[in-house]
Amino acid sequence: MDTHLVDDLDLAAHLLRGGARVAFPTETVYGLGADATNADAVAGIFEAKGRPSDNPLIVHLAEPEAIESVAGPLSEAAMLLLAAFSPGPLTLILPRRDGLVPAVSAGLDTVAVRVPSLPLSRDFIRACGVPVAAPSANRSGRPSPTTWQAVHEDLAGRIEAILRGPQAEAGLESTVVDCTGAHPVLLRPGTVSLEALQAVVPQVALPDDDALLARSPGTRHRHYAPQARVTLDPTGPLEAPVAWIGLTSPPPHVHVQFMQGCVSLESYAYELYHFFRRCDAVGVKTIVCETVEEAGVGRALNDRLRRATAAR
Ligand code: TXA
Ligand code: MG
Repeated sequence: MDTHLVDDLDLAAHLLRGGARVAFPTETVYGLGADATNADAVAGIFEAKGRPSDNPLIVHLAEPEAIESVAGPLSEAAMLLLAAFSPGPLTLILPRRDGLVPAVSAGLDTVAVRVPSLPLSRDFIRACGVPVAAPSANRSGRPSPTTWQAVHEDLAGRIEAILRGPQAEAGLESTVVDCTGAHPVLLRPGTVSLEALQAVVPQVALPDDDALLARSPGTRHRHYAPQARVTLDPTGPLEAPVAWIGLTSPPPHVHVQFMQGCVSLESYAYELYHFFRRCDAVGVKTIVCETVEEAGVGRALNDRLRRATAAR
């Protein structure tokens, strides 16, 4: 199968409406979109990614007002969070309504919804005229793609088209908040920080046991890992070539062949997955990542760093 590189969003939307899988840019990472009301198209997403069928997809909409056509009723907390952070890098888990393909939710009675803030994403989804189911556009287990080239690297020959856009501004996947229980629960940290969520709804909590974490199937699967070994500990033996990414310089005893200095948490998040992929491309064996303070976007960064180390 030829994977078409498309620059025209109307053409990309036309393909998606016809049942094709179309990768598209968002402000977080690139998504692999398909018509969420078309069972064959949705099945094609799982097939292209090699994604386990028990891991549900996020439904992307062009307007916050469209959310209630696929999900609801909305709790007061959900409405407050949407008013504050949507469009944007926030995904809410809500009770699902009929109309979507059940496989989108992996059989759950809930559905994940998000309205991206990138104008190109919203224009594309609006042109599609249907809810767009989209996981991150990587092969399952690989780092999420932050550029169209990264999508091409993982999925060329496996999907019909890629809508080309800019490098993803945030570089990490959206914040996921479950709004189906008595109080909202942060299932996946992202650039909308816990502190920011709590400033709007003070009851937003971290998951407090495995039973709750089991509500986000994605957290059970291997994620976000490059081929190189990722470590957060620069003191042990490190197989060369070694790469370093962080806010500061590597300690003097660590001999580094590749290095990515980041001037802020935001630029660290922006660079991380791109750096993982560049390291794999040049055969780096060990990537040392500096952990950051567990606050703000630092919580999301540390989460992805831990998952990358746990993956092997
Ligand atoms: O930023 C993002 O969220 C990107 C862009 C493309 O929007 N998408 C993304 O999708 O990261 P994905 O599939 O890689 O991650 C979605 C996460 C998974 O951990 C999945 O298990 C969880 O959301 N999820 C989806 N539907 C759910 C549901 N009904 N209940 C609980 N968790 C759900
Ligand atoms: Mg993903």
